[in-house]
Amino acid sequence: MTESLILRRPDDWHLHLRDGALLKAILPETARHFGRAIIMPNLVPPVVTGADAAAYRARILAACPPEMDSFKPLMTLYLTEDTDPDDVADAHAKGIVTAVKLYPAGATTNSASGVRDFDKVRPVLERMAEIGMPLCVHGEVTDSDIDIFDREAVFIERVLDPIRRATPGLRVVMEHITTSDAVAYVAENEKNLGATITTHHLIINRNHMLVGGIKPHYYCLPVAKRESHREALVKAATSGDHRYFLGTDSAPHSDPNKESACGCAGVFSATNTISCLAEVFEAADALPRLEAFASLNGPAFYGLPPNADTITLRKGAPVSYPDKIASGEGPVTVFDPGFDLHWYVEG
Ligand code: DOR
Ligand code: ZN
Repeated sequence: MTESLILRRPDDWHLHLRDGALLKAILPETARHFGRAIIMPNLVPPVVTGADAAAYRARILAACPPEMDSFKPLMTLYLTEDTDPDDVADAHAKGIVTAVKLYPAGATTNSASGVRDFDKVRPVLERMAEIGMPLCVHGEVTDSDIDIFDREAVFIERVLDPIRRATPGLRVVMEHITTSDAVAYVAENEKNLGATITTHHLIINRNHMLVGGIKPHYYCLPVAKRESHREALVKAATSGDHRYFLGTDSAPHSDPNKESACGCAGVFSATNTISCLAEVFEAADALPRLEAFASLNGPAFYGLPPNADTITLRKGAPVSYPDKIASGEGPVTVFDPGFDLHWYVEG
């Protein structure tokens, strides 16, 4: 039985760090274990220009505890119908931003400035294809007549595939995939396509959220689907296939904002993600492939080297994590996987 595992230091290819007091409180939860993270731009107001991204990066670095100062935030721009292709290319050339994020307008938290008419962003996408800059996509349609559980599958057919056909050189990350439809699409499309999978979508299905009382801390977008979809995600993540990599989508909201008549979407999993993933991969008899998913496939997609240093996981008696992280904006509940965690990161 494997009792320890050395991995290249992992990266998180989809993370919400927020700003101000919340940023200060939750950043160490990621920086403690991860080398780099792709930082989502859905602040209020959103991070839309290279100058916004440079200023946000400076605030993140200032909030990082000195003992974790090797953590590197990789910035993204929030794509709007007014985004200037020259500003995007300039910020990319200067190393300020790594990727652009596409939110369909209204799809999720702070997405009101997102894209309504995908033709309007065609010039930006063409430019990104030219310079090899990845587009991270929140893949859900927002049409009121499309059932929330079908929104990812419909997006792939109506929006994603047409965009990729129109701009075949564009490197696309399907973010936080939640369905076997998404896995099937990735399987059929080898070129210029990757997909992130969250920790929580590998662990919960919609029953966990809804049976026996509504569990607001399991509510996120895209919403967790039925068990067969979760199984397809576990198979994809643990396969070692280079197109799948970790993007936790760890997305803190204060408890009052989650435990409300209209609760916010987001699961906060930064604190215990590595332990949770080790359990998932061990249960799938795939521990040797955890490094590919968490530490190697993401950098390869982004054209970056893996982190030079390593972390050591050890297995022992169940480990405990705080239930909540205190912040100046109130407590933030840590993801509860619903089972004991035996793997921990040493040191
Ligand atoms: O659950 C989610 N929370 N999904 C998203 O796409 C956004 C995120 C957030 O910012 O809270
Ligand atoms: Zn997200």
